[in-house]
Amino acid sequence: MVIGISGASGKLGRLSVEAALERVEPQDLVITTRTPANLAEYAERGVDVRYADFDEPESLTTAFAGVERMFMISASNGTGHRYDEHSAAISAAKAAGVERLVFPSMPKVDDPAHPVGLAAQEYRDAEELLAAGGVPYAILRDAPYAELHVVERFTPALAAGQMRINTADGTAAFVSRADVARAAIALVLGDGHMGNTYDITGPELLTFKQVAELLAEVSGRPLEYVEVDDATFAQETAAAGVPSLMVDALTGMGKAVREDYFAVQSDDFKAITGRDPLSLREVLEAHRDELAAAAVTT
Ligand SMILES: NC(=O)c1ccc[n+]([C@@H]2O[C@H](COP(=O)([O-])OP(=O)(O)OC[C@H]3O[C@@H](n4cnc5c(N)ncnc54)[C@H](OP(=O)(O)O)[C@@H]3O)[C@@H](O)[C@H]2O)c1
Repeated sequence: MVIGISGASGKLGRLSVEAALERVEPQDLVITTRTPANLAEYAERGVDVRYADFDEPESLTTAFAGVERMFMISASNGTGHRYDEHSAAISAAKAAGVERLVFPSMPKVDDPAHPVGLAAQEYRDAEELLAAGGVPYAILRDAPYAELHVVERFTPALAAGQMRINTADGTAAFVSRADVARAAIALVLGDGHMGNTYDITGPELLTFKQVAELLAEVSGRPLEYVEVDDATFAQETAAAGVPSLMVDALTGMGKAVREDYFAVQSDDFKAITGRDPLSLREVLEAHRDELAAAAVTT
């Protein structure tokens, strides 16, 4: 059986390749990317590394040829091009005879009023394309990634000593990218999952005040939690030099958390993989040194 993973050079992509290699032989794995040179180490291990760009539909025919089951990693968030990109990729998978597709999405995207805006709309579009696409599929609606939405995002806050955010008492069940990768590969390889939508989350719902407390505890640095409104958050984020599309996305993300769009905790991960998801504490502890060092030097 030939397994494909698209977007293999991204952070989730690499973790998915590693998760797949724990369960299949390298010669049964096709990984596609816009930057094959970045995956040379896998080619050396016998994995078939191919060029694919969802913006170049003609590249996808060769890229997906012979693939039977696929984890199709969605193209980067909020670009405004994702409808065409995902449409081309799903069509190419069908034309290549792919029998099973697994695709990552976002919680509660069926609500057109989702405060995250463009990115949520792009996931909603993708879910509709999959439903109409003619290839059996499963959707992973992923909680916010712990590494991105806590470690990367709040390292500067640790340096400043304050987390200033517009999430109020809203919660999220942060999930590790590694667990998303494990769940995706388990769905690709296991039977009986097609047609289902799964919520892939961490084990507990946390407010950002609790996240700030955990960050302070693990890093050993003081971190004050300060609640701000949307306008203040947007103004302060823009003043920090963040591009305007990203200011909108982050402000919308905060509003979405506040309005419980991410207040989803599910046991789907355990049902799919048979193991417990990593907690936010475990993810932070794995990054303890960089959290503590960044706070001192930045
Ligand atoms: N739940 C969350 O918190 C959350 C947060 C951010 C993103 N996401 C979603 O999860 C995905 C993986 O995130 P990540 O953290 O691994 O991000 P990342 O490291 O920035 O990776 C971006 C991904 O998008 C792919 N991509 C971008 N443009 C593409 C194109 N034209 N054709 C084909 N693939 C394209 C990349 O593939 P190559 O570079 O290998 O071609 C790569 O897999 C994102 O793309 C996004 O849809 C979820």
